[in-house]
Amino acid sequence: MAILVTGGAGYIGSHTVVELQNRGYDVVVIDNLQNSSEKVLGRVEAITGKKVPFCLTDIRDRIGLEEVFSKYEIDSVIHFAGLKAVGESVAKPWEYYENNIGGTLVLLDVMRRHGVKDIIFSSSATVYGDPLEIPITENCPKQPCTNPYGWTKSMLEQIMTDIQAADPEWNVVLLRYFNPIGAHESGTIGENPNGIPNNLMPYITQVAVGKREILNIFGNDYDTPDGTCIRDYIHVVDLALGHVAAIKKLQENPGLFVCNLGTGIGYSVLDVVNAFMEANNLTIPYRFAPRRPGDVPVNYSDPSKALREMGWKTQFDLRKMCADSWNWQKNNPNGYED
Ligand code: NAD
Ligand code: UD1
Repeated sequence: MAILVTGGAGYIGSHTVVELQNRGYDVVVIDNLQNSSEKVLGRVEAITGKKVPFCLTDIRDRIGLEEVFSKYEIDSVIHFAGLKAVGESVAKPWEYYENNIGGTLVLLDVMRRHGVKDIIFSSSATVYGDPLEIPITENCPKQPCTNPYGWTKSMLEQIMTDIQAADPEWNVVLLRYFNPIGAHESGTIGENPNGIPNNLMPYITQVAVGKREILNIFGNDYDTPDGTCIRDYIHVVDLALGHVAAIKKLQENPGLFVCNLGTGIGYSVLDVVNAFMEANNLTIPYRFAPRRPGDVPVNYSDPSKALREMGWKTQFDLRKMCADSWNWQKNNPNGYED
């Protein structure tokens, strides 16, 4: 029996495949490679010493998915595939709804036709909007989202919740990620954004490697100790291990299970910049710039449910996240391009 990993060539998916294979799980990866490279899978194989069965398939392609489910004995799905750029989603809402929601509806239908009703879904802390409580527990009410990307996560959570309620044979694990950064310690796989990075850590590493001149820190007049926004940064390997824990949780037939994956610690943008400089003995030039629309001042998790119910907690600190992010970037200044 194998775990189907959709979007398994992407940033979080590839790290999760490593941790699953290292623990003896069989996986099958599908990806349409629209935001990744097949080279990733060769790098994963070099780390784990195991072959990664791969199907170049789009989750919107029903016939392609049917073939995958007929060819392999799949017993559960970890569903990473989706578009994730917030700004792009505002400019191209139809593309985001069609890919993320349309694709997931096809995937869920093919799954149930094949009697596969166990799924782990990549959701996001974005569903909490400007959170009504800090630290954020899973009981914190969801808020309206500020962009179509966020809405796709919020709506897909609702869709899977309703499907599970109608058919209790389904086990649905909704994992709400906080801010994944870092890379595998080999430095051979990592985050590889197209064009100008939107997110903080890839921007910092591109400044460090000389691809960008200076980091803009969006806002230094927030009501936080140093005026910059606070987030819950989590090492991507810890996040990957959260999926291994969630696979075990699925075996308990939990029905619907909603869980934060974060460290529970909030760091400001300046904390991250300083930690990066210290961990790597580098200087990152930065300047303060206007606030970025849609940013919330403070967002960090209460991760105690994950510990209580899945026995999972994070191991890696901010220094390690910064060291591993830089190790990846400096060894691969152009990502997976030669
Ligand atoms: P990523 O872009 O690196 O990985 C997503 C993968 O899905 C890519 O390899 C892409 O080619 C593939 N894909 C996209 N649409 C597809 C389709 N229609 N069919 C098949 N493959 C498709 O992103 P990531 O950072 O690894 O994120 C993985 C998941 O986690 C996404 O759903 C994302 O929204 C979610 N998430 C990410 C973050 C984050 O900060 N990275 C935070 C919260 C949630
Ligand atoms: C963003 C998305 C979130 C998504 C997540 C992962 C928004 C509002 N939220 O989270 O929905 O799930 O990415 O893709 O876009 N920053 C700078 N300079 C930069 C980049 C970022 O100062 O060049 C600051 C931001 O203002 C923010 C912090 O760094 O305060 C973290 O930003 P980012 O890495 O983009 O993550 P989020 O905004 O938390």
